Amino acid sequence: MDALELLLNRHSNPRLIEPAPSAEQLDTVFKAGLRAPDHGALTPWEFVVFEGEQRQQLGDIFAQAAQANGKDAETIEKARNAPLRAPMVITVVAKVKEHNNVPRLEQEISAGCALMAMQMASLALGFNGIWRTGWFSFDRGVHQALSLAETDQIVGFLYLGTAQVEVRKLPERDPAQFVRYFGK
Ligand SMILES: Cc1cc2nc3c(=O)[nH]c(=O)nc-3n(C[C@H](O)[C@H](O)[C@H](O)COP(=O)(O)O)c2cc1C
Repeated sequence: MDALELLLNRHSNPRLIEPAPSAEQLDTVFKAGLRAPDHGALTPWEFVVFEGEQRQQLGDIFAQAAQANGKDAETIEKARNAPLRAPMVITVVAKVKEHNNVPRLEQEISAGCALMAMQMASLALGFNGIWRTGWFSFDRGVHQALSLAETDQIVGFLYLGTAQVEVRKLPERDPAQFVRYFGK
């Protein structure tokens, strides 16, 4: 797929079914993620893959966190089922390192770039997906259950699979509304 065609037409899809990328295809997806811009070459990334039954374990982690936060029964069940919305969920973590010149924000942005690169690589391989976060991303209970360090931050859950139905992309936006040329 042509790079510009991909960038100009990409869109997410929340309606995902099997198959997800194979092990070989995932290797390509991860290699794309590992090309993310990275100030100081800190490689502040970790990708935690949930597929098959492991998605239920992630759902249980979400449900326990919902319970611990005093959410109602409906929200707890919704949390439990959330990871089942795709055949594969990749949790993208910013493994933030202490550094004089590279603040936390830059490392989290780098992890976000890795996530986007992985989403784009998946699209190029014929799959689709959606970047999700929600309160789970910031919940300490979820972090602990995933063996994350105090300084780590989940930047997103990349839901991946094959489009069940094609969804329409959002309308095109006019660059003129977002761009200004300084001094003109
Ligand atoms: C950091 C981040 C977090 C997001 N979290 C969610 C989310 O929790 N749920 C959701 O439906 N969309 C979420 N989105 C938006 C979708 O990934 C997607 O971009 C949006 O639905 C627009 O669709 P498009 O990508 O086809 O333009 C998030 C996007 C970003 C960048």
